[in-house]
Amino acid sequence: MTVMVLIGAQWGDEGKGKATDLYGERMQWVVRYQGGNNAGHTVVRPDGQKFALHLVPSGILSPQVTNVIGNGVVIDPGVLLGEIAELEDRGVDTSNLMISADAHLIMPYHVAIDKVAERYLGSSKIGTTGRGIGPCYQDKIARMGVRVQDVLDPSILAQKVEAALDVKNQMLVKIYNRKGLDPQAVIDAVLDQAEAFKHRIADTRLKLDQAVDRGENVLLEGGQGTLLDVDHGTYPFVTSSSPTAGGAATGSGIGPTRITTVVGILKAYTTRVGSGPFPTELLDASGEYLRETGHERGVTTGRARRCGWFDAVVARYSTRVNGLTDLFITKLDVLSSLSTVPVCVGYDVDGVRFDEMPMTQTAFHHAKPIYEELPGWSEDITGARTLADLPANARRYLDRLEELAGCRISAVGVGPGQNETIVVNDLLA
Ligand code: GDP
Ligand code: IMO
Ligand code: MG
Repeated sequence: MTVMVLIGAQWGDEGKGKATDLYGERMQWVVRYQGGNNAGHTVVRPDGQKFALHLVPSGILSPQVTNVIGNGVVIDPGVLLGEIAELEDRGVDTSNLMISADAHLIMPYHVAIDKVAERYLGSSKIGTTGRGIGPCYQDKIARMGVRVQDVLDPSILAQKVEAALDVKNQMLVKIYNRKGLDPQAVIDAVLDQAEAFKHRIADTRLKLDQAVDRGENVLLEGGQGTLLDVDHGTYPFVTSSSPTAGGAATGSGIGPTRITTVVGILKAYTTRVGSGPFPTELLDASGEYLRETGHERGVTTGRARRCGWFDAVVARYSTRVNGLTDLFITKLDVLSSLSTVPVCVGYDVDGVRFDEMPMTQTAFHHAKPIYEELPGWSEDITGARTLADLPANARRYLDRLEELAGCRISAVGVGPGQNETIVVNDLLA
């Protein structure tokens, strides 16, 4: 039995979709445990078909997998139905998808507030995806959220939406100078959508517990990444959930002692979308090179991703806060043809050297990378399927990353396709 958590170890978009697809072939369950349709996970199937998944777990493409949208996720019902319809149109069977009764629903007022709040912040904006994620989690924590199970009891749903809109409409009208929403229209729309997803509602934490008892393999597919975690990330430039390993237990109901494997997905360089500090960011031709060669454009918003060199301080930090057992390095192929590859091994903060993540965000904002230059390689490595197929300098690069990150590398991506992978260690029991 393997209960594997798969986590973004940087600022998101590390290749979690690809990794989930690869391991998903041998899983019985794939679970999303936090986030929502702020995520954009790309999967390129062995037959070359490409999928972009936002809310539905990437395991949906493996027919033997039961897919779970866990209690820690926030669900926009319209987006969910749209994504299911799109998958069905492409011939993907979605009958094996269930939704936790305890997941929260993103309501139209959450999306409206996310967008206007960002505009209101001006140059200090977070750069959110505008999907209502933050406002929905705010209501969850404030104990005024609407949960999936509320659609089964229309009078409770109506009470909750009316109570929420009492407050939200004042915010929209008085603070943000927008139109308020009509509670009845919001209620009717959700109840209408619920007709199409009601049959998927389940006690998913019980089902997952029973599956683990039976010795089945479960993969917990993280959204976002460690440095976007609301506790462990670069606050306030973070998302509003817990993508880190602890969040996998909370957001699925699988107890932490049942988790056997925690895989950190790391790009061989670094990207970030939205605002916030990014010590190794490249604002020059090298950054443009990584963006173009790596096709670094957001799957959800289409925004150009900020690009920079590999940051070993971030990698080490992720190993620590997630208790990583393994690393999956992606996009090594993007670095081919560079004469040298810089790796950030520490920070200079106002003349003081830091080998670990600084305690304060002020120090992190001032961090200047200290680089080590590693020799590059010019060969095309997309055909490599074992470490021995790689040029010596590419192997040297991986060895150094492993040493600096403090965790063994168990897989290496050399292209977007599921099979464009070097499997170093088999992670399934
Ligand atoms: P996710 O959000 O973590 O699932 O990552 P995204 O899908 O947002 O972004 C990762 C991008 O890199 C996608 O376009 C993937 O198809 C692509 N990708 C993943 N692994 C590799 C790899 O090893 N090499 C290359 N060239 N592309 C990869
Ligand atoms: P995947 O799962 C990269 C970023 C946004 C913004 C911040 C807060 O594909 O890796 P939010 O809408 O969550 O309130 O935005 O988090 N962000 C992501 N960046 N990949 C993602 O998901 C992201 N989801 C959110 O750009 O900076
Ligand atoms: Mg993504």
